[in-house]
Amino acid sequence: MRNIVLLGFMGTGKSTVGKILAQSLAWDFVDTDCEIGEVTNLSVTEIFRRHGETRFRSEESIVVARLSQQEQIVIATGGGTVLNPLNWQALAQKGIMICLHASIEAIISRIGHKNDRPLLKGSREAIEKLWTERQACYAQADFTIDTTEKTIDEVVNEILARLGGRINHEYSGVAKD
Ligand code: S3P
Repeated sequence: MRNIVLLGFMGTGKSTVGKILAQSLAWDFVDTDCEIGEVTNLSVTEIFRRHGETRFRSEESIVVARLSQQEQIVIATGGGTVLNPLNWQALAQKGIMICLHASIEAIISRIGHKNDRPLLKGSREAIEKLWTERQACYAQADFTIDTTEKTIDEVVNEILARLGGRINHEYSGVAKD
């Protein structure tokens, strides 16, 4: 296991948790949305607005293909990244796939008021439908952590405990005992 891949719906904590997790392992952290932003010089919202979702997904797959070649990184994916089986396959080659889960209520209270997620613009019903449709895909992860009632540190510690001996310390910056 050379990388850690965080997947799951928008607002489940992938980026926030990923940053702290990477720090505790002394690994690098990358966020696919940020990478897309750097490559295109556009925010996610701008790409969707100017070029549409198809273009966003194609930029996303290019970023995934590149990141999948690297090692010792924690990757926070966008909520839709792993729905493309080719993206899943590429990320899973070197990475353990960890799903972060949260209830619809938690997701809406965490990010419902924000304006930076084009796919959250619809009604609560539309968000709930998208959330429900995606659960079967997310459930294929190696394991799932429910972040609904937890602090960031609790989630990070739970991931580290679940990973246990699976972290290859030869590949991490963490000193061996
Ligand atoms: C998306 C999730 C977003 C971003 C884009 C599409 C999705 O990332 O990639 O708005 O399809 O669920 P986050 O999950 O980090 O919000």
